[in-house]
Amino acid sequence: MNFVKLVMFYGVITYVSAIEPFSALGAIGTAVIAGIYTVFTPIKCQFKECCTSKWISLNTTALQEDLRRRLYGQHLVTDVIIKHLKSHMTKDPSKALTLSFHGGTGTGKNYVSKIIAESIYKEGMRSKYVHLISATKEFPHKDMVPLYKDKLRNLVESSVNECPQSLFIFDEIDKMPAGILDTLKPYFDFYEQLGGTDYRKAMFIFLSNTAGEDISKHALNNWHSEFKREDIGLKEMEQIISTAAINSKTSGMYHSDIIYKHMITAYVPFLPMERKHIKECIKDLLVARNYFRREDIPEDKIRVIAQELNYYPADMEIFSVTGCKRVPEKVTYVMDEE
Ligand SMILES: *[C@@H]1O[C@H](CO)[C@@H](O)[C@H](O)[C@H]1NC(C)=O
Repeated sequence: MNFVKLVMFYGVITYVSAIEPFSALGAIGTAVIAGIYTVFTPIKCQFKECCTSKWISLNTTALQEDLRRRLYGQHLVTDVIIKHLKSHMTKDPSKALTLSFHGGTGTGKNYVSKIIAESIYKEGMRSKYVHLISATKEFPHKDMVPLYKDKLRNLVESSVNECPQSLFIFDEIDKMPAGILDTLKPYFDFYEQLGGTDYRKAMFIFLSNTAGEDISKHALNNWHSEFKREDIGLKEMEQIISTAAINSKTSGMYHSDIIYKHMITAYVPFLPMERKHIKECIKDLLVARNYFRREDIPEDKIRVIAQELNYYPADMEIFSVTGCKRVPEKVTYVMDEE
């Protein structure tokens, strides 16, 4: 071994021992863990739902197409929903979006909530950031209201904490015991932060039959007038709904002060469905169940199925009592008869 090599060897030893061995290992360990995390989190989110734009973003085209193709007789619904969702999802919203859907059974309230969920969340209604809360199923006992309030507050807080763009759909809110919804009031407001969380990107949809009768009455008056159904405007309906909601004695939401404080972004009216709209639902179902191709559906079959449903007012039979809700069972009944 010559002298030069020996000096070099000694130099390396000195250099290595100058770094404290444990902190060096620690630093390397931290770097490796951080590296694994930054590499694998996006990979994980490739396959499993995360709160990222890959999984959550509004597809306006899809929403527009679905509403036009799958929803019948609700000309007021599409525009108002697209307008509010678009501005909520693309700008920094100043408060949570709160939409209040009103109308009778089978007019499409549930259906539209589902379409909304599908147009925003890749996982649709199965998304862990979409919560469907049925008032009659989840809040059945009036004497347990304090417990329900805690439960609901926890749900909203933990969800929005995990993902600001969470969606909460409250079904049959008119059957919810009074006071429960008041507990959510702070989350509907303009606060930038509340207990460290920003709730302004969250979305709430309330479904109810509140004002359903007034909407029907107005639609019937319009039917008797020289105006077309499509002439019914949003302003006049909003007026009818907010008046009915404030005067309602039974509604769990509407004798809370949420509506008085203008916390509802928009009221969305669902008009009662006429026989021609029912026929469209029947056609969709006959095709979906492979009974016919769309161009081959016999007109008399549609008429017979439509006739299985009840219509009001009794003397004129204009609007379906249950909308499109009972169409599936009637299709089964008529088609299996043969
Ligand atoms: C949006 O929806 C349309 C129609 O369903 C679809 O063709 C398009 O690929 C979607 N865009 C994105 C970004 O998912």
